[in-house]
Amino acid sequence: MGRLMDTPPPEADDASQQNTPGHLPVLAEEVLEWLDPKPGGRYCDLTVGMGGHARLVLERSAPDGKLIGMDRDPAALEMARTLLEPFGDRVTLVHTRFSQAREVLDRLGMVPVDGFLVDLGVSSPQLDRPERGFSFRNDGPLDMRMDPTAGETAAQLLARMDEEELEQVIRDYGEERHAARVARAIVEAQRSGPVDTTGKLAALVARALPRHERGKNPATRTFQALRIAVNQELDELEQFLAAATDCLRPGGRLCIIAFHSLEDRIVKRRLRTLAGRDGGGPARLRILTKHVVVPHNDERVRNRRSRSARLRAAERL
Ligand SMILES: C[S@@+](CC[C@H](N)C(=O)[O-])C[C@H]1O[C@@H](n2cnc3c(N)ncnc32)[C@H](O)[C@@H]1O
Repeated sequence: MGRLMDTPPPEADDASQQNTPGHLPVLAEEVLEWLDPKPGGRYCDLTVGMGGHARLVLERSAPDGKLIGMDRDPAALEMARTLLEPFGDRVTLVHTRFSQAREVLDRLGMVPVDGFLVDLGVSSPQLDRPERGFSFRNDGPLDMRMDPTAGETAAQLLARMDEEELEQVIRDYGEERHAARVARAIVEAQRSGPVDTTGKLAALVARALPRHERGKNPATRTFQALRIAVNQELDELEQFLAAATDCLRPGGRLCIIAFHSLEDRIVKRRLRTLAGRDGGGPARLRILTKHVVVPHNDERVRNRRSRSARLRAAERL
């Protein structure tokens, strides 16, 4: 079982994890322990990514457990399709946002499910490919859409928002103390041309900040903020959590891995409400993880990006 902690670990340099085929996905053992997949069960991986966790769930629920894998990124689904091919018709993959999970599962006739897994954040391929525009490490178009077929890019968002809106996004979603300076610098820079590459944005944020935190790229918080805004990540999570319990079989489990404190706070608060605490009405879930579960030291050393992972699990009553 993962190390149990009261206080979350410090934020990692970025909010994703290493998970190429051959690598174990983050908190792999812990996910299997808390999700507890069984033969004959029906599991839904809402962020199937490259299929790392999904493969483990399928192996554990052999010979006849079923898995519905969802992702908003068509490129991720392609990778998952390749990795999960050996499991044949035990797997169904769907291109969708997980806020739509209830409708999708209903349409597929897959309700109720025995378990939901959500592994939030961006995947390594999203982060590592410059053309996806998520990373300050490689220069690329300032895109940041997990689903490149829909919605507004980060560059379009910067061009549309006024200084006040930008400041609010950067402060609320990036927890950036110097949000006002960063917003002003973006607006000023746009007077002489669009801020439309990751390189331009990273450089102007670095110039705008009075001090740089040691070991952390100065643009980390601003990039996190824009990514959350572009993908409406917190709304997605709220909408999913509001619908999830209805789709679970009694005894069915919900496991969520968050990568930053904003997400983890939403998960913690919502699970407490659904467990009938904090004036949330009759209990519909039982919280299984008394304290948030974080990776063991060896995983943290092996996989730097796992360091900010926090798992919480609950069971339908
Ligand atoms: C950290 S990766 C998941 C990795 C996966 N667990 C594995 O083992 O390969 C997160 C994935 O969630 C997807 N994602 C994030 N938010 C989403 C949302 N609201 N709806 C659907 N997919 C989402 C991303 O596109 C990305 O592929």
